[in-house]
Amino acid sequence: MSGWNDLAIARAIHVVAVLLWIGGVAFVATTLLPACRAMAMPAQRIALFETLERRFAAQARLTTLAAGLSGFWLAHRLGAWARFAAPGDWWWMHLMVTIWALFTLMLFVLEPLVLHRWFAEQARRDPARTFARIERLHRVLLALSLVAAAGAVAGSHGGWQF
Ligand code: HEM
Repeated sequence: MSGWNDLAIARAIHVVAVLLWIGGVAFVATTLLPACRAMAMPAQRIALFETLERRFAAQARLTTLAAGLSGFWLAHRLGAWARFAAPGDWWWMHLMVTIWALFTLMLFVLEPLVLHRWFAEQARRDPARTFARIERLHRVLLALSLVAAAGAVAGSHGGWQF
């Protein structure tokens, strides 16, 4: 069929999903969490953060799903699976999938089943330290995601072929 380029469409979906998702992570890490820290006493910070962040968690579930599906379609259509056997040249492919797996695990499994309860318990014991941990986790995930995104754009356009 002429006029249809599923590869270009999958790429567009992939990038839009990733920008909404990682952009949201950037907002949470650099704006929402510091604002919660400034606004509330340690004992109330986590409750405030969870209330404000809930909508984003729901969005992030959708956008990680869309990024994953479009990413798998891209890899399938590009015949890119062999890249995973050559980590040196294709480190950014590994990083993309690792980030995606980490977020999927957090959003779909750990957060609802374990983390919510664990954070509540930790927060009772040492709220300031628990909140600092949540902030650190978000900063690390954001930094890795940005490296993956930069690596993927440069890599997709021949940047890492020496
Ligand atoms: C299961 C997870 C994922 C898979 C299977 C996947 C797969 C892919 C594939 C096959 C490409 C095209 C590469 C090429 O043209 O040579 C791509 C591009 C890209 N991916 Fe992913 N990806 C995934 C997750 C992510 C994540 C988590 C991010 C961001 C942190 C990301 C950001 C990007 C970007 C920015 C591009 C470049 C688009 C362009 O400039 O053309 N991907 N991905």
